[in-house]
Amino acid sequence: MTTYKSSWLCPSNIALVKYWGKKPEQLPMNPSLSFSLKQARTRTSVAIVPKSAERLRFLFEGKESSFDTRIRKYLDKLAIDLPWINDYSFEMESSNTFPHSTGIASSASAFGALALCLADLNSQLTGVSTEDDQFFQTASRLARLGSGSASRSVYGGFAWWGKSAAMKASTDCYAVPVSNQIHESYFSLCDAVLLVDSQKKKVSSSAGHDLMNNHPYQAARLAQANQSIEQLLGLMKTDGNRMAFIDLVEQEALSLHALMMSSTPSFLLLKPGSLEIIEKIRAFRHQTGLPVGFTIDAGPNIHLLYWKEDQEAVHAFIRTELLYHTENGEWLDDRVGEGPVKA
Ligand code: PMV
Repeated sequence: MTTYKSSWLCPSNIALVKYWGKKPEQLPMNPSLSFSLKQARTRTSVAIVPKSAERLRFLFEGKESSFDTRIRKYLDKLAIDLPWINDYSFEMESSNTFPHSTGIASSASAFGALALCLADLNSQLTGVSTEDDQFFQTASRLARLGSGSASRSVYGGFAWWGKSAAMKASTDCYAVPVSNQIHESYFSLCDAVLLVDSQKKKVSSSAGHDLMNNHPYQAARLAQANQSIEQLLGLMKTDGNRMAFIDLVEQEALSLHALMMSSTPSFLLLKPGSLEIIEKIRAFRHQTGLPVGFTIDAGPNIHLLYWKEDQEAVHAFIRTELLYHTENGEWLDDRVGEGPVKA
């Protein structure tokens, strides 16, 4: 009996224009743009065996994990599209290359890696090639059904997810790679993740997206996101205006938090330490003239964005001024990465 196996290492990603709000089938209300990280990755192996009473065995870092409930539901959802899923039992093992408590969104790398394995197994079973763009489109679509932002993790460099007049190939169904439209200087962008608070999220992503359904600023947000993404891509086509890039990215991050603060119910996810760091980053930019800024996910941790060539000055700044506001001085130095690899 042939055993089918697949194993992938897939990065997490950080959005510059945020996906916030979704329609049924996990389709996005607005287009988003992100880059994949180099260090923060998930390695997942999946083997399929003849169906037995135990449908799924899932080990995370060698131990049983409650994430298996979410994977079971995910497999049920995918079986509509990939009927072979119903004919097998699954043995999965997964681990992260970054500490679990860093507050880095691991659902993007986790579903990215799992979706790549399932797309690969699908290819092995059905004979569809894994070499072409089609394979990554399939993986991105499968990843989307697990976690929307995971759709962007199956590519290296920069990825765009969501239909927009500004991007010809864009669709809500899967993300598309856009690195070839972006100036090479943006590939030396770094992301220092400053861990302000590692506690579990106050609001799950799903509940957060739902807050946009009846949000008083929904129409304005959709207009803003569409405009921001078009402007940002325009800026990133050349190396001419790093400061304008930083301004727009910060505005996006703070808009996400403004939306959460003005939702019903309201969520305030930033901590005093997050605000201290934001103010210090802005003061540092003002004093030094360096293009250094921040973005933030749906949590209190600050992602400090800077260019590799400014690393020495930025690392000194982090050590002397910012680590004081982080939890146990914890941070992670990451940067734009090359994307997933078979592992
Ligand atoms: O993929 P989800 O459902 O966890 O949503 C992620 C949403 C943000 O991280 C806040 C923004 C984004 O585009 O990644």
